[in-house]
Amino acid sequence: MSNSMWGGRFSEGPAAIMEEINASIGFDQKLYRQDIAGSKAHAAMLARQGIIAADDAEKIAAGLDAILREIEAGEFKFSRALEDIHLNIESRLKELIGDAAGRLHTARSRNDQVATDFKLWVRDTIDAMDAALRELQVALADKAFEHAGQVMPGFTHLQSAQPVTFGHHMLAYVEMIGRDRGRFQDARRRLNENPLGAAALAGTSFPIDRFQTSASLGFDRPTANSLDSVSDRDFVIEALAAASLCAIHLSRFAEEIVIWSSAQFRFIKLSDKFTTGSSIMPQKRNPDAAELVRAKTGRIIGAQTALQIVMKGLPLAYQKDMQEDKEQAFDAFESLELAIAATTGMVLDMEPEAATLKKAAGSGFATATDLADWLVRELNMPFRDAHHVTGRIVAIASERGVELTKVTLDEMQAVHPAITEAVYSVLTVDKSVRSRTSYGGTSPKNVRSQAKRWQRALAREAKA
Ligand code: ARG
Repeated sequence: MSNSMWGGRFSEGPAAIMEEINASIGFDQKLYRQDIAGSKAHAAMLARQGIIAADDAEKIAAGLDAILREIEAGEFKFSRALEDIHLNIESRLKELIGDAAGRLHTARSRNDQVATDFKLWVRDTIDAMDAALRELQVALADKAFEHAGQVMPGFTHLQSAQPVTFGHHMLAYVEMIGRDRGRFQDARRRLNENPLGAAALAGTSFPIDRFQTSASLGFDRPTANSLDSVSDRDFVIEALAAASLCAIHLSRFAEEIVIWSSAQFRFIKLSDKFTTGSSIMPQKRNPDAAELVRAKTGRIIGAQTALQIVMKGLPLAYQKDMQEDKEQAFDAFESLELAIAATTGMVLDMEPEAATLKKAAGSGFATATDLADWLVRELNMPFRDAHHVTGRIVAIASERGVELTKVTLDEMQAVHPAITEAVYSVLTVDKSVRSRTSYGGTSPKNVRSQAKRWQRALAREAKA
């Protein structure tokens, strides 16, 4: 049997394999809410423009509401023979309200319909992502404030570099996520133009009002070129690009959580809530949640790459290739939402191990830069010379297997006679972090005020 929705010129039905490769209902049923909203807006506009009768529009709206309820109750029977969400809904509408259903598709095509549905879906997803990221920022900023003065080692090359504070480290991620949210908002702004009414590719001869449907669907304006409206998926790729960067940020934090919670580091404690045991090694407490956040990045970046490859070289306008825009994007955004929630959970759950962090902060000659800065400040030495003198003192400490604070004044003076007892005052980690007061620096005072600034801004957003 040929397709009842478009089979007029066909005498035979599709081959089974044709039906299988062609159908998208298995995944695009996720768009049902957006599809129904788009259809309701379209029907209402058609009636207001006198293109269809008002009572037909009313029947259509009531039928669509009934379908929405059926789908949400899990009672709707999706059919693969009906290809996609658009035809499944339209066909059910016909069963429910009869011939009036056939008027809904006036002055539109599945091409503008699917672009509209997916834009609405991506927009909803961006909004959900933004709310979740805001919550993560709140958790991080609260942790940062609480541990603004907690010293820990700062690393470069994963080697002890200079002491920093735990709060400072948390705030680094608040900043990154702030930019991630900004990228999602940028994508949302560019996405928010309405393709509905572009019809198949050329627009329509019916006197439609695309500004009306734009307003009712929350779009800023209609798209200005009908060919472009149905043939680009840059809005998905752009949102996936923002998602990829966000996932990369989360993966770096996840990696740090994995390292920090290892027996060799013990920088933080994660509770039973975010760890798992091993079926063979009873002592184990594995940071699986962090590992999976780290790993989800792969599928998110993969989805972006996949869609870019689908779109590359496609001539205008709609091509069926574009049906491949949805499945991996759904998966990518769901994965990111899960990763954000798990990260927020871990932040709320993690407790920094104060004593271990402080001890680690002071090891590895982490205050060598403070010593060099002291030589510059107190002895008026050029920094390059101070660097050299400090290097020789570090070599002595390293040879003796002690930290810088344990190098005697005699030993220091043998390297440079002008060094005095006062140098020891800058060699402790607490002094070191307290001295980093430059804007954006790690001093607890700075960290406290930056954490407060974020807490206030995030609270203001919640009220808005
Ligand atoms: N299921 C299709 C998609 O996702 C809807 C658009 C189909 N348009 C068409 N002319 N066959 O892209």
